[in-house]
Amino acid sequence: MTCYWSDNKYTILLIVDIKIIVKIKIAVLGTGIVGRTIAEKLDQLGHDVTIGTRDVQKTMQENEAYAAWASSHSNVHTMPFVEGAANADLLFNCIGGMVTMDALNGIGEKTLGNKVLVDLSNPLDFSNGMPPSLGVVNTDSIGEQIQRGFPNLKVVKSLNTMNTALMVNPGMLKGDHNVFVCGNDEASKNTTLDLLKSFGWREDLIIDLGDITNSRGTEMILPIWLRLWGALGTAEFNFHIQKN
Ligand SMILES: NC(=O)c1ccc[n+]([C@@H]2O[C@H](COP(=O)([O-])OP(=O)(O)OC[C@H]3O[C@@H](n4cnc5c(N)ncnc54)[C@H](OP(=O)(O)O)[C@@H]3O)[C@@H](O)[C@H]2O)c1
Repeated sequence: MTCYWSDNKYTILLIVDIKIIVKIKIAVLGTGIVGRTIAEKLDQLGHDVTIGTRDVQKTMQENEAYAAWASSHSNVHTMPFVEGAANADLLFNCIGGMVTMDALNGIGEKTLGNKVLVDLSNPLDFSNGMPPSLGVVNTDSIGEQIQRGFPNLKVVKSLNTMNTALMVNPGMLKGDHNVFVCGNDEASKNTTLDLLKSFGWREDLIIDLGDITNSRGTEMILPIWLRLWGALGTAEFNFHIQKN
């Protein structure tokens, strides 16, 4: 890997097979399976990655799965949400949808600024047991709540409609299948598109639905996704949109 060009914000890396990627400072917010999967992939791709949690010491002491993962991913530093976000140019929101606004309010508008935030969350409400219902629905969505709450943030909704293993390894399913993106800022959607392509998504299989209000549509896919999971007995499936 040869360093080709650099300023304070971005470093362009020349990879051996002549693929050029832009190295981005990324904070992955969330220590669950989604956060860990995304952070691992971004680190493998050569980005500068941190992973965020509410309380680093508590998470390391009480979350055995996370502590084991962290010990085998020493490149990815674990940081409090606010510190990780402050040091990053781009954020991945991998926090439960119903607590996302609490977490982002804790980080604060000043720190979030006008960064790009790729939102993978779903508004699943488990308070009445399984299957969960949608806690935000029909006329609103978590993607829109984030954008409304932090108007300068560039929110892009994506990847929330599939199991986490598929997000970073679409080739594990035979045949074509789709990923959706939506958001108000075209440049941020293009940045997200580049990241998705680096994850292995073919450009023609990435569907841009339009502005952030389209998060409603992708979040409302979850009830049928959950039933398919039960009926198929596996989470290794995805939606393929067929058209003439
Ligand atoms: N699992 C999947 O395959 C899948 C697929 C698509 C989308 N998603 C969505 O991705 C998101 C992450 O899912 P996940 O299963 O990886 O993890 P999760 O259990 O939904 O969320 C874990 C994260 O949420 C944080 N959190 C929990 N309660 C909080 C609160 N009250 N305030 C602030 N932060 C809080 C935790 O913080 P600490 O680190 O401090 O504990 C942790 O970092 C969810 O929105 C989910 O719907 C999941």
